[in-house]
Amino acid sequence: MATVRIPERNHTIDNAEEIAAFIAPFGMTYQRWPLEDRVSPDASADDILAAYAPEIEELKRRGGYVTADVIDVKPDTPGLDTMLNRFNKEHRHSEDEVRFIVKGSGLFHIHPDNGPVFSITVEAGDLITVPCGMRHWFDLCVERRIRAIRLFQDPSGWTPEYEANGAHDQFAPLCWGPNYISAAPEFKSTITG
Ligand code: LAC
Ligand code: NI
Repeated sequence: MATVRIPERNHTIDNAEEIAAFIAPFGMTYQRWPLEDRVSPDASADDILAAYAPEIEELKRRGGYVTADVIDVKPDTPGLDTMLNRFNKEHRHSEDEVRFIVKGSGLFHIHPDNGPVFSITVEAGDLITVPCGMRHWFDLCVERRIRAIRLFQDPSGWTPEYEANGAHDQFAPLCWGPNYISAAPEFKSTITG
């Protein structure tokens, strides 16, 4: 289950319907897809894509996405810090960012033109879509693990366009905080010592 935090309003949303309603005006979607009985989060990429084929096909129909893949990021992924440093600075893309989390967790910050910066922590079972042109940045959580289905309108164009004065330095990676602890109790001891 995702959690939205709006620091400027000192407000947290952790109900799926309320999250979907809060982000809809920004052109974003949030959905829960079934996890249980579907496929192991450790299955091969092809098996994961096959298991979620109905949901993927529906998204493709609605959003014009043409390809899907599975990204797998672990603490020992070569070049992990370089990769994260590309995405943890405020940026936008010329196409939608569409992610379904199969395993692990991550933290998006969203910077709308017409609203406050907010964060959304995503974990297994969460689908998030960020529309093209929306300013955002991304961090992993403390376990540095995420496995996600990605959909693309044009994978060759998947590059970040950075903001000149990105707001990312003003916001903490909140999935290190209490929200993250409640979302992933198995890492509590790692954080609190
Ligand atoms: C991306 C995310 C992580 O651009 O923002 O892939
Ligand atoms: Ni991005």
